[in-house]
Amino acid sequence: MNNCEWEIRWSESLSVGVAEIDQEHRQFVARVNELNKAIIECRNKATVERLLDLMLMEASHHFWHEQRLLALWNYPDRAAHAAKHAELTAQFDRIMKEFERADVSFTWALKGLHIKQLLVDHLLQEDMKYRDFLLRRKDSERSPTCRRRERKRAPAVA
Ligand SMILES: [Fe+2]
Ligand SMILES: [Fe+2]
Repeated sequence: MNNCEWEIRWSESLSVGVAEIDQEHRQFVARVNELNKAIIECRNKATVERLLDLMLMEASHHFWHEQRLLALWNYPDRAAHAAKHAELTAQFDRIMKEFERADVSFTWALKGLHIKQLLVDHLLQEDMKYRDFLLRRKDSERSPTCRRRERKRAPAVA
């Protein structure tokens, strides 16, 4: 199978508009591609487990970082977002236990892909919600200035 078919490419549509978070999301996309490649190339369980451990360790730090920023930005749904992170972390623990117990390659490969998909879905659905919040906030912060500038530029009505 052609590896490119499995590859996720970073695009601006994935950007949340915050450089430090985008950097961590880019790193995550790179990890997803490494994991997909290892599974496609039928690498052994230990290799896939090492990649999953790394992905989950980075995800845990990323969740903490994101929550810290969401609090700083006063994101109204920050508690719900943190709850999603906690829910995902609990799911990962459960799936990793199943991964460890699985001895058929098809089964443990599916567990690995499930973890990856949960993280991808979170990025595409949940993280994009605070991206939209930041965009709206930026827009409303800009509007009064724009309006003032427009008023200054507007010709005086006689
Ligand atoms: Fe994220
Ligand atoms: Fe998140």
